[in-house]
Amino acid sequence: MRRTKITDVLKSDAIGSEIVVKGWVRTRRGNKQVNFIALNDGSTIHNLQVVADVEVFGEELLRRVTTGASIAVRGELAPSQGTGQNVELLARTLEVIGDCDVNEYPLQPKKHSLEFLREIAHLRFRTNTFSAIARVRHAMIFAVHSFFSSKGFVNIHTPIITASDAEGAGEMFQVTTLDLENIPRNEEGKIDFKEDFFGKATNLTVSGQLEGELAAMGLADIYTFGPTFRAENSNTSRHLAEFWMIEPEMAFYDLNDNMDLAEEFLKYLIQYALDNCSDDLQFLSSRLEEEEKNKKADERSMELIEKLKFVLNNEFIRLTYSEAIEILKESKPNKKGQFKYQIEGYGADLQSEHERYLVEKHFKKPVILTDYPKEIKAFYMKLNDDNKTVRAMDVLFPQIGEIIGGSQREENYDKLVARMQEMHIPVEEMWWYLDTRKFGAVPHSGFGLGFERLLLFVTGMGNIRDVIPFPRTPKNAEF
Ligand code: 4AD
Ligand code: MG
Repeated sequence: MRRTKITDVLKSDAIGSEIVVKGWVRTRRGNKQVNFIALNDGSTIHNLQVVADVEVFGEELLRRVTTGASIAVRGELAPSQGTGQNVELLARTLEVIGDCDVNEYPLQPKKHSLEFLREIAHLRFRTNTFSAIARVRHAMIFAVHSFFSSKGFVNIHTPIITASDAEGAGEMFQVTTLDLENIPRNEEGKIDFKEDFFGKATNLTVSGQLEGELAAMGLADIYTFGPTFRAENSNTSRHLAEFWMIEPEMAFYDLNDNMDLAEEFLKYLIQYALDNCSDDLQFLSSRLEEEEKNKKADERSMELIEKLKFVLNNEFIRLTYSEAIEILKESKPNKKGQFKYQIEGYGADLQSEHERYLVEKHFKKPVILTDYPKEIKAFYMKLNDDNKTVRAMDVLFPQIGEIIGGSQREENYDKLVARMQEMHIPVEEMWWYLDTRKFGAVPHSGFGLGFERLLLFVTGMGNIRDVIPFPRTPKNAEF
């Protein structure tokens, strides 16, 4: 008999029918006559209650039905006697597939800290919290593709190994097959990358944007969705060394079109989560509420589902960097010295404390900041007529800060070359990128959404290490 998934069993009204379920035991309780087994197979946040007659199965077998053990049960679907579920399964046969030594099994049926669960990331898929996050993550991946596909965007796989530094920030992981114990040197005594696998120095990509732009110059609307690597030594709750990014790139879009698309995209994803992940979101919401109880009243965040709806129902505020600086300069925390980084005035790079102040305290809405000083943004952003600012946009979210970074791109060949020289980007090596500005160049724009930052927002989790199955952070590459 084929296994029925527990999510389908719980929705079923086929009382009296015989089914087979398989999964992992969460708990077993009961008395000398009857045992109740809470069974989960990962298909839903909810457990199926299996009712097992002690006389039928014997105490010896039931003793092996421990937390963590895997079992298969054939039984009859019955209306539930207890509350919290409509149906339960009256076991007819019960087989232990894999025993679980409870003395060694680290996951006990009690609340474990998120820090502890990170140390046993190989097992945390078996918890309510992490299985819920994994299902929401999956739904969001699906929603990303469905959004762009419905708009006629073409998904492009951009390279993971690259010889260019897209953001010019130099925070790259090197890829090499050179023998580190015996590095070949050239006449000048420098490392001879001609001897390396690709015949030049290569890295893991920090962004698929530059290649995405090439594709957009023929396909018009494209998006990438791939792994991204940054060797920045930021041990924060919002940075990973390996994360996933979605980067759409659109020909004929100016910055306003770009902002419209970013806002529509984020709202689509949130709506999709509300429509398709309600059980998991409900669970994550109560988890968050529990956690927030320890915080002071004015530091507590909004209830999760309320917060998601709040973003859906509000237009994002759009303002320039210069306007934001004025607000921040005059703000209470700035005057009282409560920011870690004081805002002196124009030119300051915004930290997440400033971004969150604008969103959470000042506007109380998501914010899109535009027109940043060229000095603090990447070389490819389109220069404004003031020659000082660029057509950049950062989308700022409550709890997260920057969730999207993007811009209109510089399509003028001469201006782009000048910016590259100013910022010490090797012009000759980027001949292929510059070619697109020579052959039928068009205005174009794009942005990057940090997928794990989105998940932080949607799941209400506080640490980015908890929304990716196996986080990569400084000094941590376990599993
Ligand atoms: O703002 P960033 O650096 O922009 C780019 O990479 C552009 N090439 C995007 C584009 O225009 N196509 O990164 C984009 C987003 C950030 O807004 C943030 O959400 C996320 O990527 N991000 C990170 N997420 C997790 N860990 C990190 N270390 C991240 N760095 C950036
Ligand atoms: Mg950015």
